[in-house]
Amino acid sequence: MVERPRGTRDFYPDEMRLRNWLFEKFHAASAAHGFEEYDAPVLEYEELYTRKQGEEITQQLFNFEDKGGRKVSLRPEMTPSLARMVMAQAKTLPLPIKWYSIPQCWRYERTQRGRGREHYQWNVDIWGSEGISSDAELISIMVHFFKSVGLSSNDLVIRISSRKVLEEVLGSLGIDGDGFTKTCIIVDKMEKLPPEVIENQLSEIGINSEAISKIQRVLSIRSLDDLIQNLDDQSEAFSELSVLFQMLDSYGLSEWIEFDASIVRGLAYYTGPVFEAHDRRGELRAICGGGRYDRLLSSLGGNDMPATGFGFGDMVVMELLNERGLIPEITSRCQDVVVALSEDLRPAAMSVASKLRNNGRSVDLILDNKKMKWAFRHSERIGATRLVMIMPDEWKSGKVRFKNLDSGDEEDLLFSDI
Ligand code: HAM
Repeated sequence: MVERPRGTRDFYPDEMRLRNWLFEKFHAASAAHGFEEYDAPVLEYEELYTRKQGEEITQQLFNFEDKGGRKVSLRPEMTPSLARMVMAQAKTLPLPIKWYSIPQCWRYERTQRGRGREHYQWNVDIWGSEGISSDAELISIMVHFFKSVGLSSNDLVIRISSRKVLEEVLGSLGIDGDGFTKTCIIVDKMEKLPPEVIENQLSEIGINSEAISKIQRVLSIRSLDDLIQNLDDQSEAFSELSVLFQMLDSYGLSEWIEFDASIVRGLAYYTGPVFEAHDRRGELRAICGGGRYDRLLSSLGGNDMPATGFGFGDMVVMELLNERGLIPEITSRCQDVVVALSEDLRPAAMSVASKLRNNGRSVDLILDNKKMKWAFRHSERIGATRLVMIMPDEWKSGKVRFKNLDSGDEEDLLFSDI
């Protein structure tokens, strides 16, 4: 038997119902904030992703040559496709853009708990708005979603920092441009790798030991008060973050958020505030993450436009919901089961099913010759509310029997009245 590729998932109907439930919550949180949905192809030209700063994501491409010899790749993330779409219509799109999407993304990763080779990633982005209020609005969307699935600030925390923190620290040591981006990508792995490995990688890109100690010291800061002690009085990073935390307080979100200088994110393009949601117990990988990326378009050959957004995978949050007993029981949406008591009544059953469907009911018509006992059990299993029986004597007098499966009550209705 041919198996499915490693790290991919099948969605049998039970799982599909749950996935749809989760996506509905993504749609609802987006709609509650006035965001519009978009989509793009899962296949893109590889060059959309070939950034040179050593990010993991660029080494994990599902890439190949198509039959015309063009280098293509399944998308590992949505942001470059979104950038491509925005760039193509930059002159005409009314700004700011508030868009969301739930694309399937593909990364050739080592599979582990909460990480697969494909995942669905809710993406929420704002383009054309440089104010920090956009970043605050994104955090509000995340929290709206968390609340809608029953998670609270006791379950998780959104850790926030800014790329500008490290940019200012490294700038004072004469490290900027690519050196700065590469440093961010390396220190993002600090939780996963031993300190010696991180130190080695930093020295390989030319960071001296004094700078390494300074980086480590700054990244261990966990409060804005401590942060300002380590930055210049005029620090832009500090003043932006202070404003962001005040705004989030106005949204009533203070208990959901924490300053954490170790949040830098592993993608090259971030330029300002960055954030990730983590489970409070620290057992799972990041639930979601994002940040401001004001200079992505110039790296793709266009004119820059301010942008901020986040990506939120479907896997880790389901792990968390499972652990907290928050996965709902969802039965199928079928309302009526229609069964003919004998083969010669099948045409009648078809007419009844059609009529009910035209009236907007969702109807499962039993297609094979089945016993009544089977029809009852089946109705129960799929969570139908009525069993509709086409019986010989009743049908002769133009009637159909309806059994309410909750109360057990039965009534005969004329075909013309249903
Ligand atoms: P990212 O941190 O690479 O960011 O991914 C965002 C989220 O996608 C992660 O926090 C996780 O929930 C999920 N995710 C990523 N890789 C996997 C995987 N292999 N298996 C399961 N889940 C995964 C980005 O992709 C950015 N493009 C997000 C963004 C949008 N930034 C601005 N706008």
